[in-house]
Amino acid sequence: MKLRHFISSLQFTRPELESFFLNAQAIDRLLKTGGLAARKELHERLALFQACSFFYEPSTRTRCSFESAANRLGMSVVSTENAAEFSSTSKGETLEDSTAVLGGLGFDVLIMRHKETGAAERAAKVCNLHGLPMGVVNGGDGTGEHPSQSLLDLYTIWKEKADRGIDGLTVVIGGDLKHGRTVRSLALMLSLFKTKIIFVAPEHFEVQSGVKSGLEGRGIEFREETDPAKALPEADVVYWTRVQRERIADPALLSGLDLSKYVISAETLGTMKPDVTIMHPLPRVGEITTDVDCHPGAAYFRQAWNGLPVRMALLERICLGK
Ligand code: NCD
Repeated sequence: MKLRHFISSLQFTRPELESFFLNAQAIDRLLKTGGLAARKELHERLALFQACSFFYEPSTRTRCSFESAANRLGMSVVSTENAAEFSSTSKGETLEDSTAVLGGLGFDVLIMRHKETGAAERAAKVCNLHGLPMGVVNGGDGTGEHPSQSLLDLYTIWKEKADRGIDGLTVVIGGDLKHGRTVRSLALMLSLFKTKIIFVAPEHFEVQSGVKSGLEGRGIEFREETDPAKALPEADVVYWTRVQRERIADPALLSGLDLSKYVISAETLGTMKPDVTIMHPLPRVGEITTDVDCHPGAAYFRQAWNGLPVRMALLERICLGK
């Protein structure tokens, strides 16, 4: 199916995902081993296209890997990294007006991150007012979704567990599941496969009902725990996340929070399967200690790399329909 806007991880079907991963893997290999000839070939693929990257919220990986992905495909990129301050939003312009203007400037893709849930969908509704076909990519909308992250997360699982495949894996998803958008997008995308999911979160940080009803609708086995020790020994894959402090308005919620049980360290690894894969969307702020980094299953930096070929494959799919 042609993908113009990419707003939610539910837009991919399982067969589409599987062929997408093969495209991403081909790019991944070209980037790693193709040398200058591959760089040149990749650079010609989208040389006639232009992206606009508009980030209203801080970002390291998503913005840099999207912009690098676009540049490596030969796209030119116009970028605003602090749109809340440096765009006309600071003068009171609405998201709708800003997006309509950007759509009218002839960009092929608008990659957007915003603090409000639903912002990317709102942008997609008005971005083609001029009859030009700009696509909107959701680079994270508040506590909503982060679908390009879930693409790279699932691609990471697909690569790390290539010997046995995604079906049949037990995936433990832990941390701040209430405010985290990466966990929401990942759980929904994982529901295309026959996985078992164990959600682990402190009280008041549990996964939201919309995710659970989505999983129930697809017959996915899942359960919830508050104690990581009751879930981690079962995990084939652990997806750990930080507390999204910037999204929590009530200071009482944070002041009573004891996260000591939620730290994965070299010692915790001793309770887990020897071939466990440990993932994290990053940034980490203490919930995985650095003594885990040398474990062969510690995949979070490989996961961040995967953002590059995955986002290149995504841009190709949006611009060329591949
Ligand atoms: C995540 C995000 O922005 O939602 N970061 C990312 O894109 N890798 C996770 C987070 O900020 O905790």
